[in-house]
Amino acid sequence: MKTPIMVPTENLKEEPYASVLCYPKASEAEVQKRLVELRDHGVKAVEFAGKASAFNVPVLGKGFVGIVVAVYLDGQRVALKIRRVDADRLGLQNEAQMLAQANAVHVGPRLIGVSRNFLLMQLIDGTVLPDWLDANREKAYVRGVVKDVLEQCWRLDNAGLDHGELSKATKHIIVDKQLKPWIVDFESASVNRKPANVSSVCQFLFTSGGAVSRAIAEVFGERKREEIICQLRLYKKDRTRENFNRIVQVCLS
Ligand SMILES: Nc1ncnc2c1ncn2[C@@H]1O[C@H](COP(=O)(O)OP(=O)(O)OP(=O)(O)O)[C@@H](O)[C@H]1O
Ligand SMILES: [Mg+2]
Repeated sequence: MKTPIMVPTENLKEEPYASVLCYPKASEAEVQKRLVELRDHGVKAVEFAGKASAFNVPVLGKGFVGIVVAVYLDGQRVALKIRRVDADRLGLQNEAQMLAQANAVHVGPRLIGVSRNFLLMQLIDGTVLPDWLDANREKAYVRGVVKDVLEQCWRLDNAGLDHGELSKATKHIIVDKQLKPWIVDFESASVNRKPANVSSVCQFLFTSGGAVSRAIAEVFGERKREEIICQLRLYKKDRTRENFNRIVQVCLS
């Protein structure tokens, strides 16, 4: 990993930082506008560090909507999602609203602030699930993490909030140093669809045949695919805690 670089907010107008702030293409007007917006949030400095990169500058994450970096408010280190200039979203406010609803059931990084181009939230210091599984095969630890993911999905289902991207959650579950999993990125979340968080995440974790489900199968032994699918079907028809518990049992016993 590259050495972290600390850049005071006033120096973000310099390249290559201006281009990260206005990824993928900066204009002077946009840089000025974003610097004002960033100062309004009380951001004093940005820390460029992490496994991802933008214009060769290290960042915590990069997706189609945003670039995520660590920033300093007065003494507090938090995560900042920067809306890409080419994002197919006009602002981050809707994502913030969805995250706030997830927070209400104790899911997701705590929302700190939002404006058109910036979303500030609790920084999760951890590793995305596929990388975490590469390094952690201890059955008790994996069970703890997976069980907590399922519980969080149950809470989201109950709150009527569908995350929307949990069937391909390679980048959307981060495991922190205390072995707590965090579901991130609520930009595709909705309260207007039937929630399918438990089903989607079970598909991702157990039945998809992808790298994560293969790693989990290596830890727990092959699960009975049909049995899991059958339990998921029952749960879909009747979303009760009992039916949820049965899913946990077939997946993790
Ligand atoms: N609160 C956070 N703390 C630490 N890292 C985070 C946080 N939120 C997001 N990240 C990292 O940044 C990456 C990109 O964030 P996010 O998924 O929100 O962006 P995105 O543009 O919507 O991505 P995608 O196009 O993949 O949906 C995440 O996969 C994750 O690794
Ligand atoms: Mg996203």
